[in-house]
Amino acid sequence: MKIALISPSKVHLSEMSQVLQGPTPSALHGAAHELLQIEGGRSRLAEVVETHQPDLVVVDGMGRDPDELEPVEQVTAAHPQLAVLMLCAQQSPEFLLRAMRAGVREVLGSPPTPASLLMAVERVDRRRSGAAARPRGRVLGFASCKGGSGATFIAANLAYQLAAEKSVLLIDLNLQFGDALGMLSEQPAALSLADVAREIDRLDAAFLGACTTRIHERLSVLAAAEDVTDGLEVRPEHLEAIVKLARRHYDFVLLDLERHLDPLSIRAMDLADQLFVVMQAGLPWLRNARRLQKLLAGLSYPADKVHWLVNRVERGDDIGLDDIAQALGVEQVRSVANDWREVSACINQGTALIEQARSSAVVRNLAELARSLGPQTGEPPSLLSRLFRRA
Ligand SMILES: Nc1ncnc2c1ncn2[C@@H]1O[C@H](COP(=O)(O)OP(=O)(O)OP(=O)(O)O)[C@@H](O)[C@H]1O
Ligand SMILES: [Mg+2]
Repeated sequence: MKIALISPSKVHLSEMSQVLQGPTPSALHGAAHELLQIEGGRSRLAEVVETHQPDLVVVDGMGRDPDELEPVEQVTAAHPQLAVLMLCAQQSPEFLLRAMRAGVREVLGSPPTPASLLMAVERVDRRRSGAAARPRGRVLGFASCKGGSGATFIAANLAYQLAAEKSVLLIDLNLQFGDALGMLSEQPAALSLADVAREIDRLDAAFLGACTTRIHERLSVLAAAEDVTDGLEVRPEHLEAIVKLARRHYDFVLLDLERHLDPLSIRAMDLADQLFVVMQAGLPWLRNARRLQKLLAGLSYPADKVHWLVNRVERGDDIGLDDIAQALGVEQVRSVANDWREVSACINQGTALIEQARSSAVVRNLAELARSLGPQTGEPPSLLSRLFRRA
């Protein structure tokens, strides 16, 4: 771990460095710490974090006034991955509580005993490796066979329904005329996929989070750029870096793919664990579906990766689901009902369907789809991590 030690006392700095450079349990795991000693008070916290991007900061010299914690809270909110240990000579229960709320991991005495410092650092280290071992989030791609099949509507509303329990990021890959965010909210996009791509060297969880538009606590959208030309800057390698990072931080990452097949959409399909191809029960869709099927066969995806999803299904459709499955040579296709009135109304209002028409068959079908995605992929967030994510 990269650890920054901030203290007004040279003596404290050198004592703590000696303790942490010794053979700690982490060092035995082969993970020796990189230490930075910074002489100064708590006012240097923000600057040190910005400049050195440490994993852990130990801040010495805190008083006991809870108001001193406000700048600390700003730093932890801007850097959710950062761990902060605070050292203060006197600690009241009120101060400790405020410190936890400000995102401080632990408060130790000043100077800390070697054992308490070592153990606290070890706890942070263990949490971090635990976070690295966290199960990877699932990436789902949504492609449409033909314009207007309903891929965006389904991706956005499935994202919304999944986010009742899971953390979800929806990424809009329709670079020029993306409308995924508008299906869930009327708020303008914070920043866009193009903004992340433009500053890809800055990519980390905090930057990605800052570029997304938050629908609610567990659901964010990385929207398409408002300016049609901005989308041209997004390259496949940008998308790959974003998705790799996102799957470490969200239970589900949903990709609303652009309709045209190009290097970016193919990379998106590669990155998806499961790919849902959205079509309707009609010959033009079926024709396109077979063309797409040939292309997908060429990409050598495993058989269970691609799922055919027939949208706007009605009883008495000329072409039934079994006909489609047979024509595509697959065991079964999935389906979503047609509900023109409710779906149009919610799209026009920029709200998820489940909020407007909970009893719609479409909501039920999406709930079944969500359930079919299998066992939970991530642990529920702990109280402490929720506190850290609060801002
Ligand atoms: N299950 C449904 N029932 C009724 N109408 C639907 C349903 N799904 C989608 N629609 C309608 O189809 C329209 C097109 O949907 P959507 O924009 O999601 O398609 P798309 O495949 O993403 O299209 P594009 O190729 O333009 O990106 C929506 O505006 C909505 O009115
Ligand atoms: Mg679309």
